[in-house]
Amino acid sequence: YQMQIDRYGFLLHLYYGRYAEGCMDYLLTYYDRGFSANPYDADHDRSYSMDALPQEFPTSGTGDFRSPALTIKNSDGTYSCDLRYQSHRITKGKYGLPGLPAVYADEEEAETLEILMEDAVTKVQAVLLYGVLPKYDIITRSVRIINQGEDTIHISKAASACLDFVSGDYDLISFYGRHAMERNFQRVPVSHGKQILRSRRGTSSHQYNPAMILAGKDTTEEAGDCYAMVFVYSGCFKAEAEKDQFNQTRALMGLASEMFSYPLGTGDSFVIPETVMTYSAEGLSVLSHNLHRCFRNNLCRGRWKDQVRPVLVNSWEADYFNFTGESLLRLGKHAAELGIEMLVLDDGWFGERNDDNTSLGDWQVNEDKLGCTMGELIRKINAMGMKFGIWIEPEMISEDSDLYRAHPDWALVIPGRQPIRSRSQLVLDMSREDVTDYLTERICDIVEKADIQYIKWDMNRSLMAAYSAKLPRDCQGELRHRYVLGLYKVLEAVTQRFPELLLEGCSGGGGRFDAGMLYYCPQIWCSDNTDAIERLRIQYGTSFGYPMSSVSAHVSVCPNHQNHRVTPFKTRGICAMQGTFGYELDLSKMTDEEKKMAGEQIAFFKEHGRLFQFGDYYRLTSPFENRDYTVWEYAAQDGSEACMSVVYTDMY
Ligand code: GLA
Repeated sequence: YQMQIDRYGFLLHLYYGRYAEGCMDYLLTYYDRGFSANPYDADHDRSYSMDALPQEFPTSGTGDFRSPALTIKNSDGTYSCDLRYQSHRITKGKYGLPGLPAVYADEEEAETLEILMEDAVTKVQAVLLYGVLPKYDIITRSVRIINQGEDTIHISKAASACLDFVSGDYDLISFYGRHAMERNFQRVPVSHGKQILRSRRGTSSHQYNPAMILAGKDTTEEAGDCYAMVFVYSGCFKAEAEKDQFNQTRALMGLASEMFSYPLGTGDSFVIPETVMTYSAEGLSVLSHNLHRCFRNNLCRGRWKDQVRPVLVNSWEADYFNFTGESLLRLGKHAAELGIEMLVLDDGWFGERNDDNTSLGDWQVNEDKLGCTMGELIRKINAMGMKFGIWIEPEMISEDSDLYRAHPDWALVIPGRQPIRSRSQLVLDMSREDVTDYLTERICDIVEKADIQYIKWDMNRSLMAAYSAKLPRDCQGELRHRYVLGLYKVLEAVTQRFPELLLEGCSGGGGRFDAGMLYYCPQIWCSDNTDAIERLRIQYGTSFGYPMSSVSAHVSVCPNHQNHRVTPFKTRGICAMQGTFGYELDLSKMTDEEKKMAGEQIAFFKEHGRLFQFGDYYRLTSPFENRDYTVWEYAAQDGSEACMSVVYTDMY
């Protein structure tokens, strides 16, 4: 990775790729290009233009008409920001980002490069942060913007990483989807006209994942150049790729610019969330392995990050809202007989929650429904030799809840307008301290009072028409980012308070499956679609950016509840073992043969779980190209063990 401070103090990007010695500035070309402006410093040299030169951190207002990484609206209403190099330093270890998730590393594992840039007129500074982790071929990037000027400025666009390529033809690999069909694989040429992947939903979203790969035309799983950019963030984002007028490629990863405007007063600073980048000269497998290893070891935290996760049974598809204390004990009894290690009580245990219209926010145990206290129920499950976990959806509020009756202003609703409902629920204003304090207190209280070892943290709608009563009118453009910071604050408090707790992320399945969440939750419910065959595609797409230890997958009943497909029990087990493994069906209704197979699957997983969760994962076929069968393999990094799985998806 090479960059250069040029004669005028601009920071030019020279190269990212295979290890190479020597300065690469011969890659820069200088021509008099029409309608490509020239900085004043260049005098009348028309061949010098920011519109054509590759840059580390392009800003609006320097004569570069490609997409900028940073746009600032100055106090005089102009949009100019002309950052020039001031100084740099290299330190051992990896920078951290207070309040934000980020890759971490000790002094032996990483180095940090900090480059200070400044606009001479406005005194706006940007500290470009680079974390270098050679053992995974990872470079992380973040930027701290500091306003050293005398007037308030507004940041209206902020990306933490830009990659400029002066030559080459690339494909853009991205992961699109919808609820219950996340992270479909798409590979298209980067072409003239910008391609944008983004979320405006307040979460990273089912629709586009905040990860993209630029791959050479001939790049395969085993060979060829490829670059990944993965955003360590769980809210609105924007990823862009574009071929410019000179056939150069620019890729950007950062915050969404729509509905975003962040004021910075004198002396204030703003941190752009981190982008993780990696390069592979040997194709997509190595690219994914770099990300997997880095995320598993240096992003996930807590007791469970490198432990095989318990095999669990979840009550949702078993009983939905219709469980009782007795039915849960029955589920527990069957689970214990099969060797299952944890029972998870999903939605419906609190307030008056017997359907999805009510009670979000009222995180009080419904003891009538359980027929006992939560503590008593858990003790009985523990006595069967199993751990216990619960589902919770902290960021939400039902209009029919005591919380809403007490604090209607805690919901994100625009004054004078009717709220927009989704799954009949509203969203809490996570930018408010009283809300995040309340949630932290409630969650800690629930976990403290009973022996809860796991939490599935759900989020079942998107943000829209949002307004915070606590933010001044001209600061509403901060709201969506402050929401995410509030979420991280609560997650951090809970994980610090209970380092033993296993957190599973969820947002209607995989609507917030991103590297930001992995900092708090080492695993995420991959999709509400539990059909084994469709999961092959969802899990395949997920595997490009995220380790298999983070992919939560369960065996469910047939006909499947989402698409009514009938799939052999064995196949369902094999597909669910692609990630952290569990069951989600009424175990008492299983046939004897199914019980026998489940017992064998669980025993097999217990024996080989380390390989499945922490081995190197190889995609041997693509379920998007080969509709007949899908093959994948795990291999232990020391070569001691490997397992190949083959699933026929069509039979002639
Ligand atoms: C979401 C989750 C499901 C389940 C339900 C409960 O859809 O993704 O797994 O927990 O909520 O309401």
